[in-house]
Amino acid sequence: MTQPNSSYYERHIFFCLNKRENGEACCADHNAQEAFDHCKSRVKSQGLSGPGKVRVNKAGCLDRCAAGPVAVIYPEAVWYSYVDKNDIDEIVESHLKNGRVVERLLTPPHLGR
Ligand code: FES
Repeated sequence: MTQPNSSYYERHIFFCLNKRENGEACCADHNAQEAFDHCKSRVKSQGLSGPGKVRVNKAGCLDRCAAGPVAVIYPEAVWYSYVDKNDIDEIVESHLKNGRVVERLLTPPHLGR
């Protein structure tokens, strides 16, 4: 029988894809959708997706808009502020695949909304 606290996925990454129409900062204005799509296909092509492995999910606003675009990985609760596809590739290879945090992309701890 499965342990009650066992994890269905080894790691779960959530991308904020929130779009604001009022001119306030939002991740959608920084190519968040493109980064999400890239991450999803990269994880899949590397054979990392599925139960016991990695799940890539969309999220609404994670309330850290000032640091956007952001993504967060659980269970480590590590927040990333990325810029481009190379950053996503590094997060996939280093953190999602090998469990090594990408220090250079960490979201500054004081940045919220
Ligand atoms: S809009 Fe992305 S964290 Fe708020």
